Amino acid sequence: MTARRKKKPPGKGKNRASPPLAAPPEQARVIAIANQKGGVGKTTTAINLAAALGIAGKRTLLVDFDPQGNATSGCGLSTASEQSIYHAIMGECSLSSIVVNPGIRGVDICPSTQDLYGAELELATVENREDRLRELLYTLRKGYHYIVIDCPPSLGLLTINALTAADSVLIPLQCEYYAMEGLAHLSETVRRVRDAFNPGLSVEGILLTMFDKRTNLSREVAQELQHHYSGQIFQTVIPRNVRLSEAPSFGKPVLYYDVRSIGAQSYLALASEVMNHGST
Ligand SMILES: Nc1ncnc2c1ncn2[C@@H]1O[C@H](COP(=O)(O)OP(=O)(O)OP(=O)(O)O)[C@@H](O)[C@H]1O
Ligand SMILES: [Mg+2]
Repeated sequence: MTARRKKKPPGKGKNRASPPLAAPPEQARVIAIANQKGGVGKTTTAINLAAALGIAGKRTLLVDFDPQGNATSGCGLSTASEQSIYHAIMGECSLSSIVVNPGIRGVDICPSTQDLYGAELELATVENREDRLRELLYTLRKGYHYIVIDCPPSLGLLTINALTAADSVLIPLQCEYYAMEGLAHLSETVRRVRDAFNPGLSVEGILLTMFDKRTNLSREVAQELQHHYSGQIFQTVIPRNVRLSEAPSFGKPVLYYDVRSIGAQSYLALASEVMNHGST
């Protein structure tokens, strides 16, 4: 039996040197990761896209905008911090004061806590309530290449704030029976946000997640999507991969857990596609 080779963190291998972190541009590109359907891979995509952009030398801010705090814990941080994105959104502190470096190359994070569940209600009567996140991100956009926002599984005020603050929306989609129906609702919301608050909002792309090429359903849904949304679907497809589901329990992006896994390689490919979309 051969001894298992110890996994090297990305960038430490002989042929794996990461480019140095580049100076940030004038304005970060803000990408909201959204789908009102639960468990489709939003957080997995937000964490691993951010980590892959960091490895590529891009300074990236990951904003956990979900009260579940899965992006926060998935990066190894506590979801019980005293000050979080909730306090920034409610005007109790600045956004920069809650930014933490979780020890992931090039990536900073704005952590979330359960307090954020209250924001939806508390903001209901506040003026410009859809614009809170965009206003907060205004000054931080100068310090990063990318800002990636992990949205909760709803089309409520938090997701509306994320879409209003974003340049584009990346839609993770699990190849299952109701996927298309959910996509129609989300597309309608994107249209409404464009009309009312953010005319520049574009669709970064639809990302097929947890894809299992052995099942007819995965293949059929992928074909159907190509038919209706051709040109909007990422070439990169994220396969179902157990390493991706294990990594959060170690508080790490998959790139720092098992860089050779198909899951890690897929997210590196996704980051390349995203970088090719814009000049950032
Ligand atoms: N490609 C994949 N292969 C295997 N497991 C995956 C994959 N992507 C995500 N998972 C797992 O599926 C579950 C749901 O993923 P994730 O938390 O990213 O979805 P989500 O859309 O953010 O969920 P929520 O709507 O609750 O925020 C998690 O346990 C995650 O580890
Ligand atoms: Mg999530």
